[in-house]
Amino acid sequence: MSTFSLRRNTCYLKLKTLTYYKNKIVWITGASSGIGKAMAIELSKHGGYVILTSRSKDKLEKTKAELQDPGQAEIVLLDMADSDAIDSVTTNLLQKHGHIDILINNAGISQRSLTLDTDMKVYHRLMNINYFGVIQMSKLLLPSMVAKKSGHIVTITSVNGKLGSYMKSGYAGSKHALHGFFDSLRAEIDDSGVDITLITPGYVQTDISMNALTKDGTPQKSMDSNTAKGIPASTFAQKALRQIAKGKAEIIIAGGIESLGLYLKRFLPGVLRKLTAGRKEA
Ligand SMILES: NC(=O)c1ccc[n+]([C@@H]2O[C@H](COP(=O)([O-])OP(=O)(O)OC[C@H]3O[C@@H](n4cnc5c(N)ncnc54)[C@H](OP(=O)(O)O)[C@@H]3O)[C@@H](O)[C@H]2O)c1
Repeated sequence: MSTFSLRRNTCYLKLKTLTYYKNKIVWITGASSGIGKAMAIELSKHGGYVILTSRSKDKLEKTKAELQDPGQAEIVLLDMADSDAIDSVTTNLLQKHGHIDILINNAGISQRSLTLDTDMKVYHRLMNINYFGVIQMSKLLLPSMVAKKSGHIVTITSVNGKLGSYMKSGYAGSKHALHGFFDSLRAEIDDSGVDITLITPGYVQTDISMNALTKDGTPQKSMDSNTAKGIPASTFAQKALRQIAKGKAEIIIAGGIESLGLYLKRFLPGVLRKLTAGRKEA
């Protein structure tokens, strides 16, 4: 491809990102921190109206203040483990706006504990926040999207949605479940006009490991070195929004080591098993 056509394609993609989000109502869960916050900031640059939800009012206020146009945003408190709250918040937002154009299922929590040691309540919490909350909200919004013949449900999963790793059995289980659910839903609503996108991140520099649940459900409160060395959340957000605008079914945004893991899982699973056996991630 010539330099001229490469430049023309890059310009076209940037333009497509700029226009895709303009005047769209975009709901981002987990917008108080990390990836969700970065996506909200990036989206506001492209003219989207953003609904920011999480449990932390102060942090959401900070996200809102950093948006290009804080007037084009609203904050709603929502705990993704509270199914009654998910019902009422979604119903209220649909009544207020008439529809949601794009749902970004981002809120999530990780885990750092061995299966043999981990209390079952930790597994229930991981599934409630990472899986049941996500599918409940998506199911509540889906009928209005199908009726309108347009809409986009984007879900942030993880490389751990494709492969398991040490001390993350509950987290990996919850993220694998998302792939199963949304791949099935995509097949069911293929010609409905509603897009389903799964985003599979590798390591991103956020507080995910600080907030990861340990065996008794208390947070780890320390930063993993792999997460600290991950890509900046702002870079992740820019890449993700460009790919979402293209309507891709699945997007992988991962560094070399995580990409290698995905490759081995697909083509040489035995090698991956040998390489990861007994291997604690940092
Ligand atoms: N960072 C990575 O390396 C990485 C890699 C792969 C996948 N991911 C995924 O990316 C997503 C975002 O995580 P992050 O890396 O940005 O981590 P983060 O900085 O810890 O942010 C997590 C977000 O989820 C929200 N959240 C957690 N529990 C919640 C609950 N019960 N109800 C509502 N919101 C809740 C938090 O908000 P409040 O605490 O204010 O409620 C926060 O806004 C997660 O789904 C995670 O699994 C991250």
